Amino acid sequence: MRREITSKSIELVFNCAAYNAVDGAEEAPAAARAVNAVGAGNVARACRDSGARLVHFSTNYVFGGSLDRPYVETDDPDPTSVYGQSKRDGEIQVLTELPTALVIRSSGLFGRGGSAVKGGSFPDRLLARARSGPELGVVDDQRLNPTFTGHLARASIAAAEAGSTGLLHLVAAGCCSYYEFALEILRLVSLNNVVKRTLTESRPGVARRPLNGCLLSNRSSPLPAWQNGIAEYLESNFTSAA
Ligand SMILES: NC(=O)c1ccc[n+]([C@@H]2O[C@H](COP(=O)([O-])OP(=O)(O)OC[C@H]3O[C@@H](n4cnc5c(N)ncnc54)[C@H](OP(=O)(O)O)[C@@H]3O)[C@@H](O)[C@H]2O)c1
Repeated sequence: MRREITSKSIELVFNCAAYNAVDGAEEAPAAARAVNAVGAGNVARACRDSGARLVHFSTNYVFGGSLDRPYVETDDPDPTSVYGQSKRDGEIQVLTELPTALVIRSSGLFGRGGSAVKGGSFPDRLLARARSGPELGVVDDQRLNPTFTGHLARASIAAAEAGSTGLLHLVAAGCCSYYEFALEILRLVSLNNVVKRTLTESRPGVARRPLNGCLLSNRSSPLPAWQNGIAEYLESNFTSAA
C-alpha cells in the first residue's frame, strides 16, 4: 500500500508502520522487506524532500541475543530472523536517506489498542488465556524489556524535541523473561493461575528470536521500570483487558 506525504506543513513524522508478523515474515520475506526496509527508506526520502524531521521505530530483534549483557547502541546488529533483518535494513535505509533521522529501538511493546496482527498486546492475550483455563505455559528463556507504549511515546517526543539523531535505545528499566512478565501481570490483577515455564525449543517451526532481547542505552536514561509500565497500563486499560 502506498501512502504519500503531500503536505509541506508536516514538520515531524513518527514512522510506526511495520510488517510485524515475526513468524509470517519467514514465509513472506518480500512483504516484510517492502514495508520494513524499502518503505522505511521511502518515508525517510519523503521527509528529506519535504524538510520534515523523522523519528523511525526499530526493534531489539536486530540483535541475535547471544551477548551476556543488554545490547547498547554501539553493539553490532546480527539479526537471526527475516523480520529482524528487514528492520535492520530499514535502519540503514533511513539513516542513509536522512542522516538526521532519529531511529528508536525498543523492546516488548504493550499498550492501548495492542497489535491487530498479534491479536492484542501480550498482557491482553495473557489475561484472555488466564481467564479461559487454570494453567498456562510461558516461555522462560527469552528475555526482554517489557515497555509500555505510553512511556515510550512520551520519551520519544522528548527525544525528538531535544533534537536527538541517529540510533537510540528507549526501553523500560530492567529486563525479565516472558515467564516473569506473565507472573507480574497476573499478580497485579490477583489471578492465581498455575504458570509453567516453557522453553523456546518447545515451539519449533517459528522464527528464531533472540534469547537475550534486552536493550540498554549508553545515550539516555531508561524509561520507568517495566513493572511500573504494566501497572500503569492495567490501571488505564483494565476494563478492556478484563
Ligand atoms: N511490538 C513490539 O513488541 C515491538 C518491539 C520493538 C519494536 N517494535 C516496532 O514498533 C513499531 C510498531 O510496531 P507494533 O508491533 O506496535 O505494531 P502495530 O501496533 O501492529 O503497528 C504497525 C502499524 O503498521 C501499519 N502498517 C503495516 N503495513 C503498512 C503499510 N504497508 N503502509 C502503512 N502502514 C502499514 C499498520 O497499519 P494498519 O493497522 O492500518 O494495517 C499498523 O498501524 C514497529 O516499527 C515495530 O518494528 C515493536
